[in-house]
Order: sequence, then C-alpha cells, then structure tokens
Amino acid sequence: MKKSRITVIGSLNMDLVVNVSHMPKVGETIMGRNFITIPGGKGANQAVAAGKLGADVYMIGKVGTDEYGSVLMDNLKSANVDVSGVKQQENMHTGLAFINVDNSGNNNIVVVSGANGTCSKEDIDTYKNIIQESEIIILQLEIPLDTVIYAVNIAKDLNKTVILNPAPAVQLPDRLLKQVDILTPNETELEILTGIEVNSLDDVEKAARVLLGKGVNAIIVTVGEKGAVMINDSEVLHVPVEKVDVADTTAAGDSFTASLAVGLSQGMNYKEAIEFANKVATVVVTREGAQTSLPTLEEVNQFFENR
Ligand code: RIB
Repeated sequence: MKKSRITVIGSLNMDLVVNVSHMPKVGETIMGRNFITIPGGKGANQAVAAGKLGADVYMIGKVGTDEYGSVLMDNLKSANVDVSGVKQQENMHTGLAFINVDNSGNNNIVVVSGANGTCSKEDIDTYKNIIQESEIIILQLEIPLDTVIYAVNIAKDLNKTVILNPAPAVQLPDRLLKQVDILTPNETELEILTGIEVNSLDDVEKAARVLLGKGVNAIIVTVGEKGAVMINDSEVLHVPVEKVDVADTTAAGDSFTASLAVGLSQGMNYKEAIEFANKVATVVVTREGAQTSLPTLEEVNQFFENR
C-alpha cells in the first residue's frame, strides 16, 4: 500500500485529569472522584493517533527537561513516531493541560503552554528537512500563531498538503487561511473562525463557505454525534457516524484529524477518509483519556466487527 509521510507540528502536554460528577460553577468547590496523569497535547495526540494506525509519522515540537517531557517522548516512540524533531527546552516546564471530565464524558480543559510556547520559527528552520521529506503536514493552534503561519508558509513553498486543526480556535489571518488545504474545526471552532452562529447543518455549510471564500480548499467540520461534513467548491458531503455510549470525548477531534490524514496518505478519497476518521473517533470516545484512548487499526476493525 502507498504510504506518504505525515509530519505533525504542534503541542505536547501532560494531561492532569480529574473525574467529576458535574462541571463546577463559578465560585463552586466540588470533590473530584480521582486524579490521573495521561500523555496528551493536541499535536502529540495527533502524532500518536497516526502512528498507532500504521502511518509513517514525524513530530516537530518542544517539551521541557522535566520528567513529563520524557514520558511524552517515550509515548510517541512507543507509537512509532519519529521524535528527532522534538526538542527539550532548558528552564521550561513541559506543557500542561488541566482537564475535568464529567459523568457524561464531556470535558473542559485549561492549557498552560510551557515549552510549547517556545516553539519558534528557528525551530521550524532547524527541522525543515523533516517537512521537506513529508507529503502531509498537520498543525493545530497550541504553539505560537506566528510559528504556525511560518511553518505553513514553508510547507506550501515545498508544495506539501497542509491540514490545520484550528484548536483552540482564534480568528485567523486571511494570509494563513489561503494557504490551508484542509481545515478541520468542530462547530464551536467554526463559529469562532467565522463569527457565524452554528446551530444546524445549514449553518455549518454557510460558515464553511465563508472560509472557502478565503481560499481554504476544503473544510471538514466534525459535528459530534452527527458525524462530519465536508464542504469544498464542488460538493457538500455529510458522513454520519454510528451512535455509541460516550466515556470521554478527550482527543476525539485529534484522532479525527490524524486518521483523516492517514486515510488521505493512503490514497483514500474524501468520503473514504472521513468514514475512516469517523470510525477511529468513535472508538476514541468509548475510552478514557487522550493518548490512552487512541486505537490501533486492528482495534478499530475489531470494534466494528463486534457490533
Ligand atoms: O484535544 C485534547 C487535548 O487538548 C488534551 O490532550 C490536552 O492536552 C489539550 O491539548
């Protein structure tokens, strides 16, 4: 099978996860059920997801010189991700994410960037050869926006396919959007990117058309239990997803973007790649944690055979 190399440029965090009965309100103190540390970070989650699915994957990013940094690097390596582009930054802690997960599997997350915030244009220059040798470049927004813009510029100069997962969402400059091949927001992120309220699939299409107008080639919006919608100049494609009992949605979006890239890297068309990504994300929401929830290809196949 043809396999193109994928490089993920982005964040690595240690997730500090607390299970709670409900999300605390402003000023409320509640008791957590338990606490656990789990490797995470949107970038690292995407790299591990792609690696576990059998892709040829590299990661470019930054961790601190603390113990969490080593754990994150080890987890990437055990998923067959090449970490030669992950640098350890002196005098800086590894990125941290404080995550509450409630009884319905919903979460809220506060990220403290740490070393991710030092991921610079110079770091991108240092690892330009990794970008050069890849076909698909995936980025998110947990490293400085200037670095993202710079990396996308380099990737496009080298004629690479750029997938941007705009999370956590901020308004993005037009000069960045016009260089993005595929944008993968969820509905909330789509609202932030466009300023258009998104309450229905019609709204999704309307908002996505604004981004198409800015030069993005395809917008693939994850719409929770309704699956995903792809909008480009020639079609609107709604790909539904099977309903499952949700344990924890953490990393569902990351696994979707990564497996979409894996599918495309293996020559799948949009419909096939989105169906594949929906399946992977479905397995992910039935499991707890970020990188702990990411399945191998065999586990994905088994999950759907047993249903
Ligand atoms: O998308 C989930 C991820 O967001 C978590 O792993 C956390 O680290 C934050 O980056």
